[in-house]
Amino acid sequence: MYHLEQYVTLLWYALTQDEALFCNKAFASRSIFLQAFPVLVPAFLLVNANHGRFSTKDSKFNLPGMILDNAISNNPLGKFAWVSMEIISPIMFIVDYFSQTPHLSNTGNMLIGLAFLVHYTHRSLVAPLFRAESLKPIHLYVWLGAMTFNFHNGSTIGWWLSSLGRADGYFIPGLLLWTLGFAGNTYHDEILFSLRKTGGKKDYSIPYGGLYQYISCPNYFCEIVEWIGLGIAAGRQCSPIWVFVVALLAVLVPRARANHQWFKRTFKDYPQRNALIPFVW
Ligand SMILES: NC(=O)c1ccc[n+]([C@@H]2O[C@H](COP(=O)([O-])OP(=O)(O)OC[C@H]3O[C@@H](n4cnc5c(N)ncnc54)[C@H](OP(=O)(O)O)[C@@H]3O)[C@@H](O)[C@H]2O)c1
Repeated sequence: MYHLEQYVTLLWYALTQDEALFCNKAFASRSIFLQAFPVLVPAFLLVNANHGRFSTKDSKFNLPGMILDNAISNNPLGKFAWVSMEIISPIMFIVDYFSQTPHLSNTGNMLIGLAFLVHYTHRSLVAPLFRAESLKPIHLYVWLGAMTFNFHNGSTIGWWLSSLGRADGYFIPGLLLWTLGFAGNTYHDEILFSLRKTGGKKDYSIPYGGLYQYISCPNYFCEIVEWIGLGIAAGRQCSPIWVFVVALLAVLVPRARANHQWFKRTFKDYPQRNALIPFVW
């Protein structure tokens, strides 16, 4: 395991010239999991992770999502699955941001950290607790995988921003792109949430509006834009954010393909759209 760690660290250093990652073994070991993550792409192409529309109905390994309109809503664990797997990310970010020394406190790093926290406050608390009408159950293996990923991701980004590097990217364009991506991600998620809020609909229907005119998964597209924007603001040296972007692509590209095919299979009158990238794919 130690040799694997050394190998991956060296490889990553060769690609990014990231001194911090190369010198700090503890940080490197937390990065290993994230760097290895995209290796799972073939699995994501073969198996649709069991949450949301690909949730397994009756598995005893399901963790309840947030099904407001059935018996699970009375279960105090009802909102546990989504919130717990996402909130670990900002918690680890805060823990590692404030526990490392020496502490860098330049404005750039702090603003990038703030953007990270804004996203995850919305993702882990606001969206599931206050915006989503319902969320399907999440299978235990998906929950564990997401928890592990979020633990390492929040930790390495917080750690790097606090004491390992200095954001030196294209700050204004990067943050503008982040803002556009964040606004687009929440806007298109809201369109999905609204589908079940109107007309008493309990199941799935075809979303319209915004970029849904062109693609099936504009929430994913905007999320990718969002994190690329933050990477551009942080600069090439900020390897944890770029690792996150690659891992996100590894998950969202196969998922967008599966969602798109599911929409076409499920709705006979599904409009002509691409899967993830307007006018391209
Ligand atoms: N999926 C991932 O692996 C992943 C990874 C990183 C970030 N994210 C981000 O997390 C957020 C949620 O992702 P997701 O994959 O769960 O998104 P999603 O499948 O698009 O679902 C989002 C929400 O909308 C509901 N919904 C989806 N399609 C609907 C339809 N046609 N009609 C009515 N309701 C519908 C879902 O209910 P159900 O639960 O009942 O399906 C869920 O409450 C997105 O912003 C995404 O960018 C996702």
